[in-house]
Amino acid sequence: MSNIFKDSTWDPEDIKLLDGFEENRTLVLRATKQIFQDFCDQNLQGNEKVLEIGSGTGFLKRNWPENFHGEWIQLDSQPAFLKEAKKKLKNETYIQGSAYELPFPDESLDVVCGYGSYDVLMDLEKATKEASRVLKKDGLFFHMLDLYPCSSPIANDLEKKGIPLRTNGKYEKPEGVCQVKSISFIPEENLEDFYLESKMEENDETDLDLNRIMEEYRIIWKKYSHEIQTHDYFDRKMKQSLMPYFNPETIEKGNLTSSFKGKRTEQQKKMDNELFLFFNEIGKFYGYSNFTQYNMLRLNFPNMLNILPAGYDCAYRILKQISPSLAQTTEPSCLERSTIKYVKVRK
Ligand SMILES: C[S@@+](CC[C@H](N)C(=O)[O-])C[C@H]1O[C@@H](n2cnc3c(N)ncnc32)[C@H](O)[C@@H]1O
Repeated sequence: MSNIFKDSTWDPEDIKLLDGFEENRTLVLRATKQIFQDFCDQNLQGNEKVLEIGSGTGFLKRNWPENFHGEWIQLDSQPAFLKEAKKKLKNETYIQGSAYELPFPDESLDVVCGYGSYDVLMDLEKATKEASRVLKKDGLFFHMLDLYPCSSPIANDLEKKGIPLRTNGKYEKPEGVCQVKSISFIPEENLEDFYLESKMEENDETDLDLNRIMEEYRIIWKKYSHEIQTHDYFDRKMKQSLMPYFNPETIEKGNLTSSFKGKRTEQQKKMDNELFLFFNEIGKFYGYSNFTQYNMLRLNFPNMLNILPAGYDCAYRILKQISPSLAQTTEPSCLERSTIKYVKVRK
């Protein structure tokens, strides 16, 4: 059993990373919960036996609709994460185990799912085969992702083929692991020319950060490299890994989106200097904020400022200074937007 866990790209230290995800996720939690509700209503009866793979500190189950009354088992390879999950939500079923060797008999579960977990697995096909084994006929598999896919397995695939690679973001753990939008690499057919022109040897250990390497080398890199978008790569690989073990005609994938408009949470209020835009409309102040769980990107925020007449953006802040009581009664509502990539398929 011990070898299986070595395959995991996660160690107890990564709990900080999960905390970071959680903080970003709660900025759009009300919108995200609506996505879970809609998905649950449309795809589940509410009384199934569900196995969640790579449940980490339990984000999905903690926020899953309360009208689900089935059995939900959370499985993760990392005991430290399960311990944390137990602290956050007691009276749940937690199992330490591996996605590659699920401790369940054949055809014993109604649903197998993951939330930002199948993208971290190095051997995706082995894991989908195993998920299919434990699912009943016609059982449901789904995976959701609210971050960029983990880049390590993608980098691993390329490295296994001896392909040198660079990323346009940080690639190294822990900061960049789920923030890498694209990876650039030298495809096999260009390798010889690339090595020749760059005067590199096959095993040269040059600095891999494109921003720091020499200009001359960067130009050669650009000439020979290809770029892959991590979302596209993972989507394709996931589909390929599901096809042999599930009913290919039932594969569905895309984006789930939802918005929530209402009062700001305390957490959101703390961020108003950075993220709020305010309009003065028919004599009233109202505003909205754009929150997104994608790396806390400020969606179009700088551009929107450009198209707004000067001064509108800080109107609410000024109002707060000159009349805090009035500002309180005109507490603006906020708009949360959540987007989750998903794939679902039946056995
Ligand atoms: C990106 S984290 C996501 C955690 C959680 N689902 C969430 O969204 O917060 C990936 C999780 O997969 C788990 N994991 C990695 N390899 C695994 C394996 N081979 N079997 C089971 N879980 C694994 C990690 O321990 C980690 O908790």
